[in-house]
Amino acid sequence: MKEIKIFTPATVANISCGFDILGLCLDNVGDEMILRKVSTRGIKITNITGQDLPFDINKNVAGVSALALLENIDENVGFEIEIHKNIKPGSGIGSSAASSAGVVFAMNELLGKPFSSLELISFAMQGEKLASGTAHADNVAPALLGGFTLIRSYEPLDVLKINSPEDLYATVIHPQIELKTSDARSVLKEQVSLTNMVKQMGNLGGLISGLYTSDYQLIGRSLHDEIIEPTRSVLIPKFNQVKKAVITKGALGAGISGSGPSIFALCKGEESAQKVGKAMAEVYHKTLIDFEIHVSKINQKGIKIIQ
Ligand code: HSE
Repeated sequence: MKEIKIFTPATVANISCGFDILGLCLDNVGDEMILRKVSTRGIKITNITGQDLPFDINKNVAGVSALALLENIDENVGFEIEIHKNIKPGSGIGSSAASSAGVVFAMNELLGKPFSSLELISFAMQGEKLASGTAHADNVAPALLGGFTLIRSYEPLDVLKINSPEDLYATVIHPQIELKTSDARSVLKEQVSLTNMVKQMGNLGGLISGLYTSDYQLIGRSLHDEIIEPTRSVLIPKFNQVKKAVITKGALGAGISGSGPSIFALCKGEESAQKVGKAMAEVYHKTLIDFEIHVSKINQKGIKIIQ
């Protein structure tokens, strides 16, 4: 195989109680990438559509992730990369992760799959480091593995795929404003109180348990963030109103998607997820901010090969 075309999905990181460790994969929103294997060693970005992003491989998250993988192979091969972006950078739904995870997935396919998923996650984390200053894996892991993922440990890297119930849907509102992850991280406090740690651990355990037992009410009760959300939510217009509206309309729970500005809700069933999307839209119609709504089943596969 010399060429591959892939769909690389958007993702929701943190999922309220799992800052930097939990993520889920969306189904119908994402980018496309085309990769070609060539006989000259090196990485070249040949085409970018949809967004104004650098072609310099050291300044582009896909370039940096691709280089991280290339350093680990001895073969005399190189890759040409085309990036077709649908996910806006600074959206909170894993734009940089889609490019970083997509490029290493596609290279691995073209090379005959020499690398494990864990190795691909660690290469893609280099792209995240370029984008946000921190090599977090909570977007690249669900993009590569699909479903819900948990980073049990960063050092050494230990990533688990978590069960998710059949009828679980995510609804996301993406306000068309840019919030850089690096900025959203810079407002966070370094210290956490013991009281908040206890609450957050209880919710994290509850969420994981609810995902395994398909206990939707438990999932809902566990979707709280005592640590990050109070600090970051002030950066997101109408955050509290959106959250209140979606809970009233039957969402199991809601929170900031990744580092924002997108807001996610989890719902039981598509009908409920659509209703929640309308409730989000009603709040934002009263503002002057454009927005997009995504209603998605949890994507269990992650990145998909188109051809
Ligand atoms: N865990 C990261 C953060 C996700 O919240 O900064 C960024 O999408």
